[in-house]
Amino acid sequence: MKTIDDLELNNQRVLLRADLNAPLKPDSSGALQITDDGRLRASVTTINDLRNRNAKIIILAHLGRPKGERKPELSLKPIAQRLSELVGAPITFLEDLHSQNEKIINNLKSGEIVMLENMRFEKDETSKDINERTRLATTLAKLGDVFVIDGFGVVHREQASVTDIARLLPKAAGRLVQAEQKAFQKVLDNPERPYVVLLGGSKVSDKLGVINNLISKVDKLLIGGGMAFTFLKAQGYEVGDSLLEIDRVAEVKELMKTAQKQNVEIVLPVDIVVSKELDGTAEIFVVDATQISVGQKGLDIGPRTGDLFASKIKDAKTVVWNGPMGVFEVNAFAQGTKTVAQALANSGAYSVVGGGDSAAAIRLLGIDESKFSHISTGGGASLELLEGKILPGLAVLEEE
Ligand code: 3PG
Repeated sequence: MKTIDDLELNNQRVLLRADLNAPLKPDSSGALQITDDGRLRASVTTINDLRNRNAKIIILAHLGRPKGERKPELSLKPIAQRLSELVGAPITFLEDLHSQNEKIINNLKSGEIVMLENMRFEKDETSKDINERTRLATTLAKLGDVFVIDGFGVVHREQASVTDIARLLPKAAGRLVQAEQKAFQKVLDNPERPYVVLLGGSKVSDKLGVINNLISKVDKLLIGGGMAFTFLKAQGYEVGDSLLEIDRVAEVKELMKTAQKQNVEIVLPVDIVVSKELDGTAEIFVVDATQISVGQKGLDIGPRTGDLFASKIKDAKTVVWNGPMGVFEVNAFAQGTKTVAQALANSGAYSVVGGGDSAAAIRLLGIDESKFSHISTGGGASLELLEGKILPGLAVLEEE
């Protein structure tokens, strides 16, 4: 895979596709504030490398899913402001893709940065029709001399500013895509053993592809979060009003049989924090995982499960973690996620944390990010890599 080390960058206009899709919330005055700037911070290394090599940088990115409509609440403007603070240099924001951009960009000096408005305000960006996507990609390609993909979070998307533009210009991977690829390659192709995979999150259906791909590679599979209840049900236990995907029970049963045949240990919760309400306002109990009654919702793994998972993590040499253990956004149900995150932070294992909720949980719970070998910036992209899929935004980098 070509990287920015292979490109001539001096004085060149570099179109940089980043993933700056960060969560925003209005503050008391109504102004939108970024609640987790992890993806922005992860994008700084490449931007600064490009600046140090005298490139002129044109950032392409998206926010949310506006589906071709210009939605003011999904403007990248606040993102450009925060990124500029992180990079320590001004970023000129260009609101309209088709106006005077070419002139402004052609007048850029080496090391200067501009950012274009949300790519997904253009309906061609996400079109299924390659001709429509190529139309936008061609407009964009006129603004640059080379193209750099650094938005790992979007490499699973076949979109104009990701894959189609890469076919029109000399292209290479940025530092973040390089780091992400290296980390996932290690846990997919060359893991040191014991190899533990810890999965959580609400839906078992989101994780079945990952389990199917990893089952022949791992030593232990620890299952927490909402998805654990479909596993408990598959074992014949009642799960009360907990999350359950009843249509997946048969598939989970098969998986458990396969795991047994392959000598993979599946570790399920032994106790559960339950309550009637999701928001922590009702009474909260800890019950055995086999004793959840009607009316109770399982909202976190219990303390014995936290210790059990922590002990398995402690013995591991490689750990992949994807998905929280409970409703970590509510204090009363955050402890399970905190316990496993802390155990992973303290372990000597090579640790890869999937993006999305688990990465957000680490930051929200204030756990030192530097204690993990790699925290991915990709949600869907990291899951698809763990499922063993070929991602179009990475595959295009291999094309001549
Ligand atoms: C993400 O948030 O996972 C990426 O930015 C991709 O966003 P998408 O799922 O809307 O394509």
